[in-house]
Amino acid sequence: MKFYKNILLLASLLVANAHYVKRDFTKKKYEIYKNAVPTSYEQIVKDANNPNRVMKLKKFEVDATEDLFKINKGKYSKSIINDPFNLNVHCYSTEDCENYPARIQEGAYFIAQTFEFYQTVNVNVTIFPFCRYMQNESGCESVMGITYPPTFISLSETKDSEPFLYPQALVKQLDVDSDISYDPIDFLIYLNSSYKPIESQDNRALIAAHEILHGLGFFHQINPISVYLNNYQNYFNNDFALPPIRYEETENTIAYNGWTPFSIFDKYIVNSSKPDEYLYGKLEKYKTHEVNFEISIKRPTTQQYNKFMSTFKALENDVEANAGGIEVANLFSTLNAVGFRTKDGKVVELQTFDGRYESASSISHINVPFKCKSSSTCTVTNASINENYLMYFTVISKASTSRLVNAFKESKHELVGSDIVRIMCTLGWNEKGSSSDNNNYSNNVYSFSQENNNSSGSRHLATPSFIIMILSFIFFIFRY
Ligand SMILES: *[C@@H]1O[C@H](CO)[C@@H](O)[C@H](O)[C@H]1NC(C)=O
Ligand SMILES: *[C@@H]1O[C@H](CO)[C@@H](O)[C@H](O)[C@H]1NC(C)=O
Ligand SMILES: *[C@@H]1O[C@H](CO)[C@@H](O)[C@H](O)[C@H]1NC(C)=O
Ligand SMILES: *[C@@H]1O[C@H](CO)[C@@H](O)[C@H](O)[C@H]1NC(C)=O
Ligand SMILES: *[C@@H]1O[C@H](CO)[C@@H](O)[C@H](O)[C@H]1NC(C)=O
Ligand SMILES: *[C@@H]1O[C@H](CO)[C@@H](O)[C@H](O)[C@H]1NC(C)=O
Repeated sequence: MKFYKNILLLASLLVANAHYVKRDFTKKKYEIYKNAVPTSYEQIVKDANNPNRVMKLKKFEVDATEDLFKINKGKYSKSIINDPFNLNVHCYSTEDCENYPARIQEGAYFIAQTFEFYQTVNVNVTIFPFCRYMQNESGCESVMGITYPPTFISLSETKDSEPFLYPQALVKQLDVDSDISYDPIDFLIYLNSSYKPIESQDNRALIAAHEILHGLGFFHQINPISVYLNNYQNYFNNDFALPPIRYEETENTIAYNGWTPFSIFDKYIVNSSKPDEYLYGKLEKYKTHEVNFEISIKRPTTQQYNKFMSTFKALENDVEANAGGIEVANLFSTLNAVGFRTKDGKVVELQTFDGRYESASSISHINVPFKCKSSSTCTVTNASINENYLMYFTVISKASTSRLVNAFKESKHELVGSDIVRIMCTLGWNEKGSSSDNNNYSNNVYSFSQENNNSSGSRHLATPSFIIMILSFIFFIFRY
């Protein structure tokens, strides 16, 4: 049963029939995951410059009232909103902002022209000069923007199936429950105002559109152990990928406390030569192990360290589980090895580097059509870009948004290439103007996933996370 059918089902049936979704009325809680938002510009800039950072998603449980599950409110004929983005733009100063807000609006417009929105998406955008907040200005790299993981809601397709994390902005469109008290902001974007291109090279609308797509769900959550641990080689024989781990920070400690659902993007990641095997499945066995340890932020104790090591050692020593983890970590650092399998069966290649994984650039981007050993060392000979340039990990230098749009006039949607549309529609978005002929109806239901409550209550589903996006510049010739 393919997921997209249900999405289309919802969208289409909503018009005709108010009773489209069955509910499990016994479920009284649902789970929301929010990123711990940095409180200082310094921290944001630090995050932006760290190519390998695991971000911090915290779990919140929201009590559902009985009302939450009532669907007889008669407001299920959805109509498309043409101006769906509510952008709260915060400027560091007028000079820093200048006309950037207009470019952001333009970027949002391209997205709104490509996908159907029935509910408003709320985005906070902060524009500030990244370089002014670098401790070491000489180390200031060319980061254009950063999007933190959006608020997620954990949903299952059927009552008993595995839950995945859906970005809140998407859940709102699905209208799984119109009475969820959604977080007021769907996602947060920070943009670097130090970047001031001349008009003929102004690609800031593209940068904004890119970040918005990350906020709408174009991101992965699976990370290898090398991202959690510097010098993993000193402790483990191989790098291995893990399901996302739940993270909780208090004033003095960081607790790693159980596994979290995979993101809905993770669900469709495959070995590009073996598109019938979904990679997240290879990591499931790890979830039979307990992860539950704490690290003091200031001065970790030996005991904490030992617990930490024994936890990961136990994972490594589970040969069966670890075989899958090693395979995935290996793919994640092999050129042209990883793809996203879309609902129409196409495998879209995702970004990987040569012998190296970078959580901010790998996987959550479309593979660039040239070789990159790392995000900063690409060999660009005779590279010609394709229509999916919007979701490359790097932006095309010296080409304005409109010049790129004009260069790909044959593209069905301006700015957003067809493979990007395929991926977003596989996650659950609907393409604007696509015929409803390919909608197949099924009887699947969504339900809020429920915590696997042990008597001890120690097993939690939740998530960590990571930086969604760092854009850096790569200079290469743009052929047109
Ligand atoms: C988002 O922006 C609004 C309007 O400026 C502000 O009130 C709110 O605190 C912001 N929320 C977050 C999470 O940054
Ligand atoms: C600042 O960065 C430069 C170049 O990256 C480096 O040589 C220097 O040691 C750094 N200084 C400090 C105080 O970190
Ligand atoms: C912000 O943009 C400027 C101009 O492109 C760039 O020089 C700088 O390195 C960027 N800041 C960061 C933190 O990357
Ligand atoms: C990906 O699949 C191909 C084809 O089956 C296989 O040869 C290759 O080893 C796989 N890659 C990894 C890292 O498992
Ligand atoms: C790049 O272009 C040049 C000149 O057009 C050509 O001689 C060369 O073979 C090309 N290289 C590659 C790798 O295609
Ligand atoms: C829809 O269902 C029909 C009949 O069950 C099938 O032939 C067709 O391939 C399906 N279309 C898609 C897009 O899955």
